[in-house]
Amino acid sequence: MVDPEHSHEHPYPAADLAARYPFVTLETRRLPDDEMLDRARTFHQAMGARRSVRMFSSRPVPGELIEEAVLAASTAPSGAHKQPWTFVAVQDPELKSRIRREAEAEERSNYLENRMNNEWLEALAPLGTDHHKEFLEVAPWIVVLFEQRYELRPDGSRRKNYYVKESVGIAAGLFIAAIHDMGLATLTHTPTPMAFLRRLLGRPENERPFVMFPIGHPLPGLQVPDLRRKSLSEVFVEVDRRGDGSTVR
Ligand SMILES: Cc1cc2nc3c(=O)[nH]c(=O)nc-3n(C[C@H](O)[C@H](O)[C@H](O)COP(=O)(O)O)c2cc1C
Repeated sequence: MVDPEHSHEHPYPAADLAARYPFVTLETRRLPDDEMLDRARTFHQAMGARRSVRMFSSRPVPGELIEEAVLAASTAPSGAHKQPWTFVAVQDPELKSRIRREAEAEERSNYLENRMNNEWLEALAPLGTDHHKEFLEVAPWIVVLFEQRYELRPDGSRRKNYYVKESVGIAAGLFIAAIHDMGLATLTHTPTPMAFLRRLLGRPENERPFVMFPIGHPLPGLQVPDLRRKSLSEVFVEVDRRGDGSTVR
């Protein structure tokens, strides 16, 4: 009898595809449901302890840890497997100061010169963020994640990238998770507009700053906003076959 779990009308890869391109067998594992539930809860709890940090210790962080986080981030799925991202790491104090100066200049316009509307400022009020970005000098590392809007080949020609923002957003999420998982802290920081970062960091024309991450040990005893995260029912709907948004459970 054919095992329905293993029989497919359209096996992947089809024979002619496998003849043209290399394929390998993926190592898979099958865990019992209760073990998966344990792992899922442990992961949720670990991620639940992550917070955006705006007060860092100046304690040094080995560059190898940053490299490992970038490697983890770079495992992200990406449109047509283009991996359209560059992580640029800075620990030089002089360069960090320049980044701070320019970020504060942009944020001064945002916060103090009406570049943010009232609704935005109200949403930010409980976080207490302002134009001071001291953490950009205190944190031992700043990593700027650039999106590659297109691929720039060594001969100067361009190749299209696909779903760039989605891909880079997923890589950013994995990067944040990796940093948190190793016991470090970061802030997802977007001192908009961020064009100055391309100039300061000498990046090519196809790259655009996506987000920057000051990274380090959190300052012992630091405070964070007492935020509530949405409950499952606020972010999750299971739709039945009527497709009218009604919850099944
Ligand atoms: C795309 C994005 C941009 C953000 N930009 C800033 C920023 O420029 N400055 C800042 O202090 N926090 C910034 N944040 C952090 C958010 O304020 C923070 O994630 C949110 O308040 C939830 O807190 P948590 O990260 O501790 O859970 C940003 C977050 C995201 C996802």
